[in-house]
Amino acid sequence: MPFSRRNFLETGLAAAAGAAAGSAGEASADQRPTPQSSPTAPAESLIDPKFASPDGHQLATDAIHLGQEAGFSVTPIYQSKNSQHGRYQRPSFNPTIWSLEAKIKGLEGGAEAVTGPCGMSVIAQTYLAHAKAGDRIVAHRCNYDAVMTLLRDKLPRFGIEVELIDMNDPENLRAALKKKKTKFVHFEPYVNPTMEVLPALELIKLAAEHGAVSVVDNTWLTPIMFQPLRHGADLVIHSATKYIGGHGSAMGGVACGRNAEWVKEIRRASIPFGGLEAHPKVARVRYGGLESWAKRQQQGQAYTRGFGGMLGVEWKEGRTHGGFDGKLKLCKPWGSLGDVVTLVQQRKGEPDRGIPGRYTRIAVGLEDPRDIIADFQQALEQV
Ligand SMILES: Cc1ncc(COP(=O)(O)O)c(C=O)c1O
Repeated sequence: MPFSRRNFLETGLAAAAGAAAGSAGEASADQRPTPQSSPTAPAESLIDPKFASPDGHQLATDAIHLGQEAGFSVTPIYQSKNSQHGRYQRPSFNPTIWSLEAKIKGLEGGAEAVTGPCGMSVIAQTYLAHAKAGDRIVAHRCNYDAVMTLLRDKLPRFGIEVELIDMNDPENLRAALKKKKTKFVHFEPYVNPTMEVLPALELIKLAAEHGAVSVVDNTWLTPIMFQPLRHGADLVIHSATKYIGGHGSAMGGVACGRNAEWVKEIRRASIPFGGLEAHPKVARVRYGGLESWAKRQQQGQAYTRGFGGMLGVEWKEGRTHGGFDGKLKLCKPWGSLGDVVTLVQQRKGEPDRGIPGRYTRIAVGLEDPRDIIADFQQALEQV
């Protein structure tokens, strides 16, 4: 698989975007780790126990220390675009960026990581760098909206064929791969905004068996809960604007290619949103870790250690859907996710993407859950 840092940086997409983005480590077929399933952790820990730290630390320690500039507790933000090395190399030639790349590389178990100005720039640049006219991408029918625009509207203009299929059933992918030579298989394991939990391990395996590069957008799960490279995926992508950024204060994107490393376990809490399902105004809660939703998404439990802060609510009535976000006092009716603040986004139904009508996407923040619940309750009383 011809991923290299160089051809990412040479494509120049970032010049248009105002900065650069990039890619990933190379992995030949014989380096491919055997995909394994790692059952969802017991409630006391959501961290994959197989994490292998380069320094022998636990994952939480590495999330802090990996890649930090020596002598500083937090790597300083370097604002310079030029250096004594005399080469202007877009933002990748910058110690702050090196620090982020090293951290993601360590956490995801990749051979190489490259950053960009946002998640979309890195995704677009992946395809600009590696796809050409006549190539074919098979993707899940639903991804983040701007990814849909890229796949449905933009890439086909360059002669790149994109087939959108329902990847809930891996047999659909098998059929699509058998039908025609395919270069990329693209999906989000925990789908934005439908909360579908795709059978990621099978999809990765099928892509490998058919010689396709698997591109896994891991923004929602983060390497804390799912490390696709360790399951044989070729490229993992993050919108670092979200959980990787961590404080709702930065934009960025990262692409990271795989190698074999190990994982160790630490603790992490899950989010107790099952109660919402019992509310008389709620038709269904979509959350990967919720039993009722997991039953419909059986494959989900097999490989991820948890599902993070993203959930969806299907309302019984249009009135609730229309009014709920406007009545919130603490949580905000804004886009984005992986923020410190709980963000609520009303969606229009899009049946071809599996997005139901009267649907709200919720990105849980870091507030005390009791305050979030109280805010939901008072809003629901009014609609
Ligand atoms: C799953 C997923 N991938 C990619 C992106 C795009 O990231 P960015 O906004 O940093 O361009 C988003 C944004 O919401 C996302 O949710």
